[in-house]
Amino acid sequence: MKIDQNIVAVVTGAASGLGAAVAVELHRRGARIGILDKNEAEGRVLANDLGGLFVDADVSDPHSVANALLSVRSELGQERVCVNCAGIAVAHTTLHKGAPHDPALFEKVVRINLIGTFNVASQSAAGMAKTEPLGPDGERGIIVNTASIAAFEGQIGHAAYSASKSGVVGMTLPMARDLARDGIRVVAVAPGMFSTPMAVDLPDHLKQSVIDNIPFPARLGDPTEFASLVAHCVENTMLNGETIRLDGGCRMPPK
Ligand SMILES: NC(=O)c1ccc[n+]([C@@H]2O[C@H](COP(=O)([O-])OP(=O)(O)OC[C@H]3O[C@@H](n4cnc5c(N)ncnc54)[C@H](O)[C@@H]3O)[C@@H](O)[C@H]2O)c1
Repeated sequence: MKIDQNIVAVVTGAASGLGAAVAVELHRRGARIGILDKNEAEGRVLANDLGGLFVDADVSDPHSVANALLSVRSELGQERVCVNCAGIAVAHTTLHKGAPHDPALFEKVVRINLIGTFNVASQSAAGMAKTEPLGPDGERGIIVNTASIAAFEGQIGHAAYSASKSGVVGMTLPMARDLARDGIRVVAVAPGMFSTPMAVDLPDHLKQSVIDNIPFPARLGDPTEFASLVAHCVENTMLNGETIRLDGGCRMPPK
């Protein structure tokens, strides 16, 4: 799908980090941006900078998502692009001093990262499916979800996080198949460790151990590199039903 001023893009989690970089990049290419995030202070600043719309939304709550998408559609128009970046990371081992992982925390991570992604993607698809098809392929929309390489090689303490991200990987192909008849593609990106508030606050030894396992380039990813891949996913219509690793060849060590 060609990104231009006729395209509305919804980006969740765009008050910070990878989502913010995606919002900036899609705006740079001409799109009108709707930001859905819980962080109102940062989200509003970026939305104002981009001449877009900020909506305070909790992706884990389907009603909040429905209201937020309604606001975006009435202010900017129906989105053709939906990028899911909202997420949280926690590190808790399955047993801690003999006690099991707090089930409420496990559920919270899955609810935000996996169910939140599903809520936004499915509700966005419902709106996209009603639009006129675009271009020679009759494309109506594209959904890009953010997984993580922890979906494949979770580290110690990643049980909840990896489970949530594996779910994002797992639903990519069936969702792409479900939505094919509507001309809507679904792609996931699985980043390695990127320089965002989520990662930079980790202890140095943990970051270094990941960097030591990146063949090349041995550094954290820059959010603009993630954003550029997301923009490519939007523009390259043959990409569908796939999870793309973006990690410099990193295979995560156990800890
Ligand atoms: N940074 C990394 O190294 C890395 C690596 C792999 C995957 N990821 C994934 O990329 C995504 C973006 O992460 P980031 O590094 O930019 O983190 P970040 O903490 O900088 O940004 C996450 C954003 O999501 C928002 N958010 C959290 N819960 C929300 C909710 N319930 N509803 C709406 N918004 C919510 C936060 O307010 C924040 O603005 C996450 O899904 C994360 O798991 C990040």
